[in-house]
Amino acid sequence: MANIHVNLDLDSYDILIERGLIHKVGPMIKELTDADKVVVITEDSVGKQYAAKLNKTLHAAKNLSIRFITVPEGEACKTLRVLSAVYEAIANFGLDRGDAIIGFGGGAVGNMAGFAAATYLGGIQYIHIPTSLTAQLGTAIGGNVSIDMPGSKNLVSSIAQPRGIFIDPDLLATLPKAEFHKGLAEAVKIACIQDKALFTIFEQAKNDVDLRKRLPEIIERCCRIKARYSEKDEFAEGSRMLLDFGNTIAHAIEGYNRYDGTYNHGEALAIGMYLITRQAEKLGLTQKGCAERIKYVLEFLELPIQTDISAADLMLYMTNDMKIWGNMIRLVLLKTIGQAYLHPVPLKELDKHIITEIDA
Ligand SMILES: NC(=O)c1ccc[n+]([C@@H]2O[C@H](COP(=O)([O-])OP(=O)(O)OC[C@H]3O[C@@H](n4cnc5c(N)ncnc54)[C@H](O)[C@@H]3O)[C@@H](O)[C@H]2O)c1
Repeated sequence: MANIHVNLDLDSYDILIERGLIHKVGPMIKELTDADKVVVITEDSVGKQYAAKLNKTLHAAKNLSIRFITVPEGEACKTLRVLSAVYEAIANFGLDRGDAIIGFGGGAVGNMAGFAAATYLGGIQYIHIPTSLTAQLGTAIGGNVSIDMPGSKNLVSSIAQPRGIFIDPDLLATLPKAEFHKGLAEAVKIACIQDKALFTIFEQAKNDVDLRKRLPEIIERCCRIKARYSEKDEFAEGSRMLLDFGNTIAHAIEGYNRYDGTYNHGEALAIGMYLITRQAEKLGLTQKGCAERIKYVLEFLELPIQTDISAADLMLYMTNDMKIWGNMIRLVLLKTIGQAYLHPVPLKELDKHIITEIDA
């Protein structure tokens, strides 16, 4: 079993990764939390496939009362209405300060369950058992928990570290191909920023079967890198911004489309990583050849690399970017594959860096 310790003083926790872990997490969670009661927040499709397995292992823990709550799947669970129903169910079950909430689903359920745990009774213990690839690559690392408001994703948010993350790559067997590829966009991002050997895994893979075989390794490499950034920069004010590679354009694409799913985040991220690197290369800010390597990998993963939205339209949606400071924006660029850096640019010169097919 891989064990990644995230060292955050009193908020330290471990990320455990092992095929088949779902069958034995119950007693481990009991020992870790010492809770008398746990509430598992899960979503329809995940619950149907895996709730019985989780329920069985939780029942193997002594003196633990368990309640499952099912919420709508995906982004639809991150609303005030769903959150309110969750608070009510938790209160009815009598959860107290020593108890725990388990988020069992994709990144959306994880975000919402983490937010509920962070805000209930001033904050109770939160365990994440991620079931989508995006979530297994570490959405819970760093402790960003949030829900959406109409038209604004993740607007209501907090930072609260999980008590533990339990990752079973076998749960990904039922993940649809498109979700699998969308998750891999996140792994390509981590590879571009910090791990050239991981990038080579993508360049050398012949098909999805190759990649699926190497999932535990891919997940572990990504989680390790995210954990180290989280330790160095708990509140995302410095080096952790490098994890935003590709996201300045990606968030603008999603915002322009009102988060209507025209592009899911993995697709928007793929376009963002390629476009920012292609232009940085033209400006001499990135080593030549990087954009072509990224293009090859993204196309192999059947992810898009172009958009028909103009740069001018995209830039209108960059005003909320967390990397804006005064009249400057810090762009995340690559020196080369595996090495990212922050490049401050005056906002009035941003148009030199953002060029889409419409403008080219
Ligand atoms: N906290 C953070 O720092 C952070 C970082 C990135 C993303 N996020 C959040 O994560 C969410 C995206 O996560 P996601 O990509 O996992 O999307 P998601 O949670 O919407 O899940 C995608 C789909 O996969 C399904 N699914 C999940 N596990 C499955 C399985 N094992 N088998 C079959 N189907 C399965 C879900 O039901 C859903 O339909 C967004 O809400 C985003 O805001 C948070």
